[in-house]
Amino acid sequence: MEKILVLVKPDGVEKGNTGAILARLEATGTRLVAARMLKISRETAEKHYAVHRERPFFNSVVEYITSGPVVAAVFEGKDVISVIRRAMGATDPAKAEPGTIRKDFAESIERNAVHGSDSPETAEYEISLYFKPEDILSY
Ligand code: TYD
Ligand code: MG
Repeated sequence: MEKILVLVKPDGVEKGNTGAILARLEATGTRLVAARMLKISRETAEKHYAVHRERPFFNSVVEYITSGPVVAAVFEGKDVISVIRRAMGATDPAKAEPGTIRKDFAESIERNAVHGSDSPETAEYEISLYFKPEDILSY
């Protein structure tokens, strides 16, 4: 079954939106199969955003994602990556559709409330940064 790594980012946690964001993701009909709260290390953040290493926002996004606690979660389901990313909305909340998480909870393109992996390969890599195989509980 397809899986996706989700992060409720520091702005979402700090504002007390973790439950609301996870509830919207559960409401997609996909299944929560792992969750934990943590403060991401710089080393893990640089691995997480390695594909963006040459982009101008790389240092800033690494600083931001390590600035406070996040909630990491894994969701599982049919087409879970496209289903969850649709519920998240566009990267820039100013361009996100009404009713999406980023439209309703994000502040800016950087402080955009939530992360979701963009392909099965990315998801497998990102899940391995935050979870051991035995942490993922299919039911
Ligand atoms: P990206 O993978 O393009 O977006 P998404 O999170 O929708 O998959 O970018 C990763 C994160 O980098 C994004 O969530 C916020 C940050 N970012 C910026 O700060 N500025 C930018 O111009 C872009 C494209 C991303
Ligand atoms: Mg991305």
